[in-house]
Order: sequence, then structure tokens, then C-alpha cells
Amino acid sequence: MSNMIEFLQKMPKAELHIHIEGSLEPDLMFKIARRNGIRLSFASVEEVKAAYRFDNLQSFLDIYYDAASVLQTEQDFYDMTWAYLQHCQEQNVLHTELFFDPQTHTNRGIEFEFIINGIGRAMNDGKQTLGISSLLIMCFLRHLSAESALNTLNQAIPFKEFIIGVGLDSSEIPHPPEKFQGVFERALEEGFLTVAHAGEEGSPNYIWQALNLLKVKRIDHGVRCIEDPILMQKLVDEQIPLTVCPLSNIKLGVFEKMADHNILTLLKHGLKVTVNSDDPAYFCGYVNENFFVLHRELGLNRQQAIQLARNSFEASFLVAQEKQRLIDQLEKYIQVSV
Ligand code: HPA
Ligand code: ZN
Repeated sequence: MSNMIEFLQKMPKAELHIHIEGSLEPDLMFKIARRNGIRLSFASVEEVKAAYRFDNLQSFLDIYYDAASVLQTEQDFYDMTWAYLQHCQEQNVLHTELFFDPQTHTNRGIEFEFIINGIGRAMNDGKQTLGISSLLIMCFLRHLSAESALNTLNQAIPFKEFIIGVGLDSSEIPHPPEKFQGVFERALEEGFLTVAHAGEEGSPNYIWQALNLLKVKRIDHGVRCIEDPILMQKLVDEQIPLTVCPLSNIKLGVFEKMADHNILTLLKHGLKVTVNSDDPAYFCGYVNENFFVLHRELGLNRQQAIQLARNSFEASFLVAQEKQRLIDQLEKYIQVSV
């Protein structure tokens, strides 16, 4: 292993953009399908992997929602989340903020309570036995109606203490943030923090709407901000974090190849960018593989990597004291690995 790869592997970091349903690896998918008596449309793990060739966001989402239908019991949600947290431990992810998509499951008749209990129990065990802290963010599927999102918000109210914020994912175009302004107003009144996927496929206008109408604290993806200099300036001035997902962006054709990716340009401009995996089981890598490819193909250096890791803690929704504790661990790591 080269020095830099080893440095990246061991570097303390946080992950802030991971869809827990997107961490479901094909072998676990088969195992869960088998125990639930579900027949998958794929014959083997190899066949599943061969199907993971996407042209754009929608072609991915079609397969992703289909695969998520194996999840039925609380234990299924537990096992999926636990498997992800074990990857976090292997990759020195000290803190993670997970998205989940309740509508993908409640629309199939799965109880909200099973979903949240399964994920929540794994998060708890992650803290107790692996020392990894985690927070949960509930995403609304933007291809569904605002009314459906509002119903979902209402279902989440009894579980408020387990959910730090709400977000917006699924097919970005033609579902701009303004469609969900009313729902996000209610969520803010209930004390949820807000985030939204914007500027992945959608124009910079979607990012403006997420900021101005949904009052988001972070933008998920956001890479198309580069087309709007005034927006860029605002993101720098207000240090609004972007949770960027390099491998995802290549797999879904947001950029043609990694050499075209703008993450280091955004970093140089002073934006608070972070590195994340999005859907690691589908995009060939967890967060460290994303760091490795940035090093290999964009020449990510040590100082940039440290900045990205520091950003990941600063951009998290942890309380100040907890953020500082993790940043101190990063600082200590930097000192001992000179
Ligand atoms: N974009 C939108 N929705 C998603 C994504 C994404 O990258 N991953 C999982 N759901
Ligand atoms: Zn995403």
C-alpha cells in the first residue's frame, strides 16, 4: 500500500451522505430475500452486479427501489445497518449521518416503527460496541407528492428523538425543492434540521430554492453550483457544506470521468466540501474508495485530504463539544503520522 493510501485509510473521518438502503450488498440482499421467501429477479450475486450499469440517476433508482423490497422485518433493517457500521469501523469513519427513505417501505405496507427500530437498534449497538456515533436523517421521495411527504412527516413525529433532520432525494428533475416548501416548513416547526439533494442533475436554481425555501443547512451533491458564480460566493461566504459523492457522480454520469470531477476546484475556491459514498453497494466503494480514487485520478494531496476530513466533522450535525472531540482525534492522527 502506498503511503498516501495508507494515510487515507487510517485518517479519522465522518460520512454525511449515505443512503442506508444503498449500502445493501448483493450477498446480504440474497440472504434476506431467502429468509423472507422472496424470489429475486436475479439468479446470482454476479448477475446482480452485472446489472449495476447505469446511464443516469433514474436508471439507478429503478434497480435500487426494486432491491429494497426484500427488506421486510425489523431484523432486516438491523442487519443492513449493522453491516454498514462495520464498514465504517474498517474505514475509520468515527461518525456517520444516515439517510433512510421510509416511503420506499411504508408504501409496501412495512410499519414505520419496524424501520426505525431496526436501524435505530443497529445505530445504538454501533455506538456501544464499535464506538461509532451516528445520526439519522429521513428523506422524502421527491417523485411522490407533497401530501405523501407530509403524511410521512406526521408518522415520524412520535419518533422525533431518533431523527435529527429531514432531506429530499430520488428523481431530482422535474421535482424542484419548491414542491416541498410547505412540508419543510412543518418539519422546521417540529425542530428537524433540513438538507436536500440539489444540483446533482438539477440546475443551480434548485440549489437556490433549497437554501431559500427549505432553509437547508447542507446541500447534498451540489456540484452544479459551479455554473453560478453568485451562488458559489454565497456558499463560500456562509460556509454551507456540500456533501459530494465522487464515485456516484461517475456511475450516474454527472461527470463523464473522474478527471472531469470538480471537487478539488470547489475545495480550492473555499467551499466546505466533504467526501461521501452515497450508495456504496451500487457505486463500487465506501468512503475510503472515494478518497483513494481522488488521490489516483485528481492527485488529491495530504493537505487537501485533511481539509476534507476536517470539513466532514465541522459540517456534521453533532453538538460543538462532540465535533471538537473528533477533530482533536484527527489532529492527533496528523501529528503522529508525519
Ligand atoms: N440522488 C437522489 N436520490 C438518491 C440518490 C442520489 O444520489 N441515492 C439514493 N437515492
Ligand atoms: Zn444521495
